[in-house]
Amino acid sequence: MGAPEIGGISIRLVRKVDENIDALVDTARYNTAKDPDNLDLAVLDALDEKLSEALSELRLLKDEWEIEQMMTAVAATVEGFVEVVKALPRALTHARGERVVEGAFFARAREVGNELGYDTIAAAGNNATVLHWTRNTGRINAGELLLLDAGVEADSLYTADVTRTLPANGTFTAVQRKVYEAVLDAADAGFAAAQPGAKFRDIHTAATNVLAERLAEWGLLPVSVEEAVSAEGQQHRRWMPHGTSHHLGLDVHDCAQAKRELYLDGILAEGMVFTIEPGLYFKNEDLAIPAEYRGIGVRIEDDILMTADGPVNLSAALPRKADDVESWMAGIYQELDAGKASGDIR
Ligand code: GLY
Ligand code: MN
Ligand code: MN
Repeated sequence: MGAPEIGGISIRLVRKVDENIDALVDTARYNTAKDPDNLDLAVLDALDEKLSEALSELRLLKDEWEIEQMMTAVAATVEGFVEVVKALPRALTHARGERVVEGAFFARAREVGNELGYDTIAAAGNNATVLHWTRNTGRINAGELLLLDAGVEADSLYTADVTRTLPANGTFTAVQRKVYEAVLDAADAGFAAAQPGAKFRDIHTAATNVLAERLAEWGLLPVSVEEAVSAEGQQHRRWMPHGTSHHLGLDVHDCAQAKRELYLDGILAEGMVFTIEPGLYFKNEDLAIPAEYRGIGVRIEDDILMTADGPVNLSAALPRKADDVESWMAGIYQELDAGKASGDIR
């Protein structure tokens, strides 16, 4: 028997970008095969996957122009978050307040960028504990937190991916602040671990170690911190069930087809752009925790550029500390009020 038939045309395809193209290429392969009945689609799929993998790996290091695009996308995203804060007072009075802030962000994304980089997550209260809450149909009640995960895609199609968790009425409650600060400390630990030469996965380990410690301090972790952070343990994942970092670029989850040894097990290097995004999510129906925690979901997500000197937070223009978030929101409302008083049209 000869080699399996793989079609007469020589073409490799990144699949699942456009279903019509997938179908066209499959048809061309079939039509040009000497022996179509013996066409080995599995071999062709594997060759296509190799191309996707190679492209993913080429994208792991961003060049200067790409880094500029990332900065453009982040700057536009920062503008979008300001619009969301401005929209919050009206959102609080609306039956679908989450849609109000989603719309405010989208309007800015279209004005200053190409589009959204991904569906906005505008999640208030317990909805923030649903990981990919993109229905955004809920109310935003005063006293709740709003988790906003949103990114503008620049005209070059590079996207930001940023999350801030904001107190809907401008002030954190004591327990919200406690959870928020644990997540912030986890993010800072991730940031400290993100050094050139360290492993990509070290960021997640550093961030989740902090969360496990906090959960233990609060009496929520059913085992010791040592057991929780061991490979067999991971009990803290009940409240932090996702990864801490992913590469970012043309796709929100850029480089996803890269080989494990270059991604999760890969070494952090100058030119990489990735997120740091720990969170804690306490569901309303979680009876394993005291009632005061329930309905609180917090994530803080920043976009990081690795340089030879260490990590640079590209999204640092958005406040991260709880006090800074409060005073940033208050400042935006003061400016709005001053504008109204002086008859400015904005
Ligand atoms: N916005 C999707 C993510 O954070 O991965
Ligand atoms: Mn992300
Ligand atoms: Mn995100």
